[in-house]
Amino acid sequence: MGQKGFTVWFTGLSGAGKTTIADAIEPILRERGITKLEKLDGDVVRTHLSKGLGFSKEDRDTNIRRIGWVAEVLTRNGVCVLASAISPYKEIRDEVKTNIGDFVEVYVECSIPELTRRDVKGLYEKAIKGEIANFTGVSDPYEAPENPTVKVNSEHEELEESVAKVLAKLEELGYVPAKATA
Ligand code: ADX
Repeated sequence: MGQKGFTVWFTGLSGAGKTTIADAIEPILRERGITKLEKLDGDVVRTHLSKGLGFSKEDRDTNIRRIGWVAEVLTRNGVCVLASAISPYKEIRDEVKTNIGDFVEVYVECSIPELTRRDVKGLYEKAIKGEIANFTGVSDPYEAPENPTVKVNSEHEELEESVAKVLAKLEELGYVPAKATA
């Protein structure tokens, strides 16, 4: 029997840890036999498929619909997709979810003070100073999922804990076989 496709969609603020969690889950899924796997990352997609798009609501919606469409096609063909993008608007996330069907929404939560403290890319400092307009969570909206499939918190949990939560949900939903205990 072939692998069943599904999309794990990580949403959350910039720097919250979406990509880090996806990167940590990938090898575990591969070990469990999920070998057809693709990662779609907002930062990367914006260098090709979404090149030239900015951060207006319209451009973000276009970006998310493009990522969503690729995820849909892959999912339909039995691939596991790990998609990471801020995806700030609920309506578009829900649209993508409906189109994909086998869709697991993971909300990666982290507070603005903590993100500003980390400021891996130096963007929060600039955004707070007003040097970057329309920065999500600072000067642009982020509509947190009210009812995500899984909620993780990179401020209060270790990476391993967040990864374990996502994995447990994927097992529960039957997308990933449980680890052999022998
Ligand atoms: S989304 O809103 O369209 O889902 P996406 O995840 O692709 O965003 O890209 C977000 C990344 O773009 C951030 O991690 C950050 O590095 C960069 N970025 C640049 N400008 C902004 C901005 N105004 N708001 C948010 N992220 C920005």
